[in-house]
Amino acid sequence: MNTFMTITQFFFTVVIGLYFLTKLVGGRRETSGMSDDAKREAEQINMMRRISLTEPLTERARPSDISEIIGQEDGIRALKAALCGSNPQHVIIYGPPGVGKTAAARLALEAAKESDGTPFLKNAPFIEADATTMRYDERSIADPLIGSVHDPIYQGAGEYGAKGVPQPKAGAVSKAHGGVLFIDEIGELQNVQINKLLKVLEDRKVMLESAYYSSSNKSIPTYIHDIFQNGMPADFRLIGATTRRPDEIPPAVRSRCVEIYFNPLTRADILTIIENARRRFGINLGDGTARLISEYAQNGRDAVKILQTLTNIVSLDNRASASAEDAQWVIKSGRYKRRNDFSDNGQIVNVSFMKPR
Ligand SMILES: Nc1ncnc2c1ncn2[C@@H]1O[C@H](COP(=O)(O)OP(=O)(O)OP(=O)(O)O)[C@@H](O)[C@H]1O
Ligand SMILES: [Mg+2]
Repeated sequence: MNTFMTITQFFFTVVIGLYFLTKLVGGRRETSGMSDDAKREAEQINMMRRISLTEPLTERARPSDISEIIGQEDGIRALKAALCGSNPQHVIIYGPPGVGKTAAARLALEAAKESDGTPFLKNAPFIEADATTMRYDERSIADPLIGSVHDPIYQGAGEYGAKGVPQPKAGAVSKAHGGVLFIDEIGELQNVQINKLLKVLEDRKVMLESAYYSSSNKSIPTYIHDIFQNGMPADFRLIGATTRRPDEIPPAVRSRCVEIYFNPLTRADILTIIENARRRFGINLGDGTARLISEYAQNGRDAVKILQTLTNIVSLDNRASASAEDAQWVIKSGRYKRRNDFSDNGQIVNVSFMKPR
């Protein structure tokens, strides 16, 4: 009997032992399989990082100091008056495409930081948001502009999800706290977003809500209680830029902002932009080339683009300079239209149109 018991015990021990052994080996295989995948992914990312194309020439032509913005003296002066000093204000920049609105906005905070009495700290953030790509959904699960709450139901089994903790996510308005929020193409923001933005401008904080929030929930960390009870800080100055007309912008936004107008660029402005970009691209221009480009470039961006193509043509042909014929070809193939401040015989007409006001 005793022997029978011992044999049975031995048999079960072996079976159970084998069961766990198989599990262990299988588990190891799974883990090592996962880490192989992870290793491959990591290697892929590293390989991607090792590849980089050359810096686009258009990047090289981008003004790096506010003084390099050409032909917008009044606009830049107004921008500095609004943002520099001890009482910076919200700003909207109006103007046609490609005349330096985005370039100026990106440099304005740096100029303001240098000014006497500025409340902007040296490390004040500059946060850029593009209204044309900014999406939100009506349930406020994601709102990259204002901020949102990740409710436990959407977090799955993560640390907070498992404990039923709603997690606040800062939007652009809070990331810009203490600095500048630049909304490019602000005229494209949807009404709901505009109304929320106006509330933040008024309150200088964002109040978030969640059905999962309870002030007595002990699992919720103190900082999250603080955010739900006192709001997420969002004290910033707004710079909006738009190609729309002022009467297309909601009056409630306009009334809170200093309105600044950038001009269409004159031919002389375009010639200066061409000369600056030419130097940065390291290209020579033959007689009449810059003049020809300036007759067809409607704005600064066109001028830089034409020059970029010329630079590529010249470098492909191993030549030192671009001729007026090269420019003619670029203009024709790019279907650039002659500026309407020129008559057919090349005379400048209608100059008053170029500097409205
Ligand atoms: N006034 C300017 N002075 C110097 N460079 C300029 C100027 N305007 C345009 N450029 C050149 O053209 C590029 C594009 O300009 P920018 O993006 O600032 O135009 P924008 O007014 O914001 O146009 P959009 O309304 O299409 O966004 C700049 O990076 C710069 O190289
Ligand atoms: Mg722009």
